[in-house]
Amino acid sequence: MFNIVKILLVGSGAREHALLRALIAGGDEVVVAPGNVGMNEAAARFPLNVSDGQAIADLAETESVDLVVIGPELPLVNGAADAVRARGIACFGPSAEAALLEGSKAFAKQVMAAAGVPTAMARVCTNQTEVESALDAFGPPFVVKDDGLAGGKGVVVTDDRRIAGEHAAVCLQRHGEAAVVIEEYLDGPEVSLFAITDGVTVVPLQPAQDYKRLGDGDAGPNTGGMGAYSPLPWAPEGLVDDIVARVIQPTIDRMRLDGVPFAGLLYAGLALTSRGLRVVEFNARFGDPETQAVLARLESPLGPLLFAAATGTLAEVAPPRWSNDAAVVVVLAAANYPQAPRLGDEVCGVEQADALVDVAVLHAGTEVADGRLLSAGGRVLTVVGCGANLSDARERAYAALDHITLADSQFRRDIALNKD
Ligand code: AMP
Ligand code: GLY
Repeated sequence: MFNIVKILLVGSGAREHALLRALIAGGDEVVVAPGNVGMNEAAARFPLNVSDGQAIADLAETESVDLVVIGPELPLVNGAADAVRARGIACFGPSAEAALLEGSKAFAKQVMAAAGVPTAMARVCTNQTEVESALDAFGPPFVVKDDGLAGGKGVVVTDDRRIAGEHAAVCLQRHGEAAVVIEEYLDGPEVSLFAITDGVTVVPLQPAQDYKRLGDGDAGPNTGGMGAYSPLPWAPEGLVDDIVARVIQPTIDRMRLDGVPFAGLLYAGLALTSRGLRVVEFNARFGDPETQAVLARLESPLGPLLFAAATGTLAEVAPPRWSNDAAVVVVLAAANYPQAPRLGDEVCGVEQADALVDVAVLHAGTEVADGRLLSAGGRVLTVVGCGANLSDARERAYAALDHITLADSQFRRDIALNKD
């Protein structure tokens, strides 16, 4: 058994708040950077520019941590995990090269093609003529994706040819070259499956479903994610094994054979289409807000799994144990999210909500000024409700939201509705 003394957790969202709680529940000592005010009582916090890999490595060294856990994609794509490992410190998170699975949709498509992983047919376009011909080939509906990282806002799915063409033009302008991916539309429900891996062994977590659109009934623009739930009672039997066998393991094997081993968390976003499962996207880190739902159901310690993934010993660790209970997560977003979120509004009622049974309020975009809790980001809080089934969990999450006030805030009312 590993004896982890100290972990540095990097990030500041509700995802990291959920990771912090799971690590502490497992008995680990954790420091966070930069963290958020919701974490103040649970962990020492350090200021940090998360896009600076050397600063992360410096902090890991001065704090003498045994393991660094990196939450967001930006430091990974910038090489933070490489910088930490270069100091001889274990790091949960892929190298910059391997993180390209998230950082470049074109690269992800290449790996999937080489690994025989089912995904949408796609063309990588370098100019508007190629864009027009790809739009003709695949749409409508048209699916246009920025090749690089875009904080959840790089993808446009539309029946409107003009909007599709305009988004492609914006992506091309931003990057100059091979910069926009046009692909076939995938129908069917979406599933997020996270797998922890050391580059060889794969340990899947529980599947979840994410709500990406802003409004009820999937109306409005794509966001970073407005809610999630786990488990998926409607999912076909054997879904997780199927995804591991057809998607995760072949991808991890291909990366290793290509000399770019991927160790850390591989997030597969999938569509269960009428023609079978297809990968919608890969991410190189825990998803937000699915992590908040998945970790609410984790009964065994998280730290040893992350440490084993970071040190190439995952095959030796017992698989995670899960509660049969359900978890429903609802994101409370600021006015005008996602376009131009309004900041600085007072948030009230968080303590009362957090004190409810089987409820946790996780912080993301919050700060404290003059003793008042204020909104400081687009996604302000996520409220987690747990229960014997999705309906119970849903009721708890929404009852907790009733206690919280934030002027002109937005949240979806249909998270996990009719999914039992
Ligand atoms: P991505 O950033 O690639 O996950 O895309 C964001 C969201 O856009 C996905 O979660 C889907 O809801 C939607 N999307 C992406 N690709 C497709 C596709 N090929 N067909 C239909 N919807 C898609
Ligand atoms: N929930 C979507 C993401 O984390 O990218």
